Amino acid sequence: MKPTGVVPLSPNGNNAAGESSPSLSTSSFEQPVIATNGSRPFSDTYAEWDDPSTIAAIEEALSQCGDVVRLEADAGFPRALREACPDIVFNVAEGLGGATRESYVPTFCEFWQIPYTGSDPLALATCLDKARAKEVLLHHRVPTPDFMVAGDPRQLDRWAHFPCVVKPLHEGSSKGITSRSLCHTPNEAEAEVRRINLMYGEPAIVERFLGGREFTVAILGGGAAARPLPLVELDFGTLPREAPPIYGYEAKWIWDRPESPLDIFKCPAECDGALRDRIEEISLAAFRALRCRDWARIDVRCDDEGSPHVLEVNPLPGVLPDPDANSCFPKAARAAGLSYEDVIKTVLHAGIERYGLIFAL
Ligand SMILES: Nc1ncnc2c1ncn2[C@@H]1O[C@H](COP(=O)(O)OP(=O)(O)OP(=O)(O)O)[C@@H](O)[C@H]1O
Ligand SMILES: [Mg+2]
Repeated sequence: MKPTGVVPLSPNGNNAAGESSPSLSTSSFEQPVIATNGSRPFSDTYAEWDDPSTIAAIEEALSQCGDVVRLEADAGFPRALREACPDIVFNVAEGLGGATRESYVPTFCEFWQIPYTGSDPLALATCLDKARAKEVLLHHRVPTPDFMVAGDPRQLDRWAHFPCVVKPLHEGSSKGITSRSLCHTPNEAEAEVRRINLMYGEPAIVERFLGGREFTVAILGGGAAARPLPLVELDFGTLPREAPPIYGYEAKWIWDRPESPLDIFKCPAECDGALRDRIEEISLAAFRALRCRDWARIDVRCDDEGSPHVLEVNPLPGVLPDPDANSCFPKAARAAGLSYEDVIKTVLHAGIERYGLIFAL
């Protein structure tokens, strides 16, 4: 028997740079256009979605293991999944709208008792809520910056740490994180909390700013085999001179263009053994504490004393197939001698093993 790999998509696979409009009605989720610091106005509504080339590359890798059926992660998904009844689902669906959007696909897989790869609905939802995830990390003594949640700018009278970073509570791909997100005064922070509350219809998370080196850690493998791939460091010296040292929306989607790529990732990162060990230790601890499975990307930043803290955990890591594109997970995999196909197949195998499925791969 061979597996039927299924790639549930974000509707019509699109991303921030994509021009096409999705087939699913998204009007209720549309967010206002954002303009920052004189750059051209942009909308980040679809920033988390995979580009069609990514979906095609995942499908191609899976097709080396069996027949692949694409399923859109839209309103027709529950029925389509039941009808397709695949041997296993390869989940890459980011969802659209709502704090539990990443949980929908695995929830329906569980409902129909269909195996799937990656983290379960609880882990996906917890990681998407940055504050909830940090509460879990703190319980497990994994260092993470001080924070508070602000559903209203007036709540900031309880906040005394400046500079701070103000971010949407449950977005990814740097949605809502711009040059203005690094706030030095209560007035700046209040304005950002207000903007996030209004534009995203959700609370903001306010975090102590850590000004040290930043790394991201790709973790790959099922169960006890999960291990960190070579560290990626972010070189903020590649950002425009006036930009604050954060990897925000402009850095990901505006200043980094195919015609002039931002050479921001260094992999393998140059760091001494003790720092590397500690970063790997807290990243793996975060992965386990949040009950991630098969793969995830952990963002880590050092404080002024050089001590690393976990910023956030991404259980659905981006995997752009183009080696020239800035995509941390495939880059870290390449540094470990793993191809794009190796990554996808490792995740698939991890899922297969978890369910005790037997396939001739
Ligand atoms: N507390 C902090 N201290 C310093 N820098 C921060 C902090 N929080 C966020 N940043 C900066 O902002 C960037 C984006 O933040 P974060 O990773 O939380 O957003 P995201 O939208 O979830 O990102 P992703 O694209 O990884 O999904 C970080 O990579 C980092 O450069
Ligand atoms: Mg991040």
